Amino acid sequence: MDLRVVAEDVTATDVDALIVNLFEGGLDPGGATGAIDNALGGGIKGLIEAGELKGKLGELVLIHTLGRIPARRVLVAGLGKQEHFNLDKTRRITGDACRFLRSRGVKTIATITHGAGTGGIAPEASAQAVSEGAVMGLYIFRRHKTRNNDLTDIEEVRIVERDPARVPSLEAGCARGRAMAEAVNFARDMINEPSNFMTPSHMAAVAAVMASEYDLECRVLEPKEMKDLGMGALLGVAQGSHQEPRFIIMTHRGDEGSDKMIGLAGKGITFDSGGISIKPSEGMGEMKGDMAGGATVMAVMRALAVLKAEVNVTALIPATENLPGGGALKPGDVLRAMNDKTVEVVNTDAEGRLILADALSYARKEGMSPVIDVATLTGSIRVALGSVATGMFANDQPLAAAALKAADEAGECVWQMPMFDEYKEQIKSDVADMKNTGGRYGGAITAALFLAEFIEDTPWMHFDIAGTAESDKEKGYVVKGATGVTVRALVNLLLSMNRK
Ligand code: BES
Ligand code: MN
Ligand code: ZN
Repeated sequence: MDLRVVAEDVTATDVDALIVNLFEGGLDPGGATGAIDNALGGGIKGLIEAGELKGKLGELVLIHTLGRIPARRVLVAGLGKQEHFNLDKTRRITGDACRFLRSRGVKTIATITHGAGTGGIAPEASAQAVSEGAVMGLYIFRRHKTRNNDLTDIEEVRIVERDPARVPSLEAGCARGRAMAEAVNFARDMINEPSNFMTPSHMAAVAAVMASEYDLECRVLEPKEMKDLGMGALLGVAQGSHQEPRFIIMTHRGDEGSDKMIGLAGKGITFDSGGISIKPSEGMGEMKGDMAGGATVMAVMRALAVLKAEVNVTALIPATENLPGGGALKPGDVLRAMNDKTVEVVNTDAEGRLILADALSYARKEGMSPVIDVATLTGSIRVALGSVATGMFANDQPLAAAALKAADEAGECVWQMPMFDEYKEQIKSDVADMKNTGGRYGGAITAALFLAEFIEDTPWMHFDIAGTAESDKEKGYVVKGATGVTVRALVNLLLSMNRK
């Protein structure tokens, strides 16, 4: 899809559809919407007076222009109440509007920078949000559909701006938005891919191809090297599968002068059956997405490379299946992680924390700091926060605060969860240093406390995306299936670190 900024007047743009907007309760549209209203002989005002157009958030009213302007259609998108307007609404309405137009066979779209006028949003930020909304909202996963002629692709989205002096900053916003959104879609593609395609070795191959395309360093460890490093927890989870595990290491060096290295770690369970502690069959297919954390950190690396972020970042992705079988890990087994701590495996379905234990130990041994992990770790976080907010845990409050700010800028809901020492009682083991589950209550917290044992005093933060990694409905720039949540929040966070 061609996405660009064009210096032209909305009344002159020649496209299948032009998106303008209206605040709720607005009776006399101004700016670009007003200019279109004039060109249409008061057509928009007429709809407002007739009560067919109210400007409510999410409202989409399509008008055929019948030759009065070069744009064949005008779509008026409701922005909601002006006092509640924010940048994320620009993303959301753009996503909704683009999908609406695609479903009507539109191929070329022009849009204004929603909110940059009376909405009070910086034009560059609006152009970024429009680009993100369009690229994320139009995402569709149809790699395995052999008959897919029901949807035509959007060929072009152009952001129109009358004032040529403003074009360079809009172009900068547009490029940044595109990099962000394409990284999100890269993660979505990996997460949506069924586990018979997205095996651990395929994940490693995707990483290698992406690394060479974007000039990242990439190294992939195989079982023998994992054994030499003492990654007993990762190997323990992997032993039940016929697919070999992989430990993917990707590095972006954007700050050559510094020896500081930030660590990312992502859970890469390409299928989680639960292992011997097998899951119920209903909904088990969803567990093809249990490598969402791994895909997320890979996507972040891609965006950092595209945006030439001036930070050094290494992503670690322990990748394996979790399956039952003759060689599988069993409840009661004891594993030794890379940092020599031992774990009693009470439940083989609590496998994410096991593989992350080795990734975090590795990060700490390599001296990375801070370290941030992302994982579809617990059903418990879903019970606590539903599908709206991602749970975040941290042992470093400035890092947590910076992350909340970065998430807010991205329009992502992140909520910090507690890590009181008192919960540690629940993961005490009689036979090993700790056990891998702490019972039903506070499950997301005990999981985070388990991870904390492997990062020790290194500044660290953990995102539990089990509730937010997938969506069962379309809304704004979110489509059904993988969401790519936390990709943009983390890119924002890492970009903010390079301003220092
Ligand atoms: N991958 C699951 C968590 C999950 C659940 C992700 C729902 C996405 C949607 C994880 O490995 C798991 O099975 N966790 C168990 C832990 C329990 C056995 C302590 C859980 O949350 O039930
Ligand atoms: Mn599990
Ligand atoms: Zn899992």
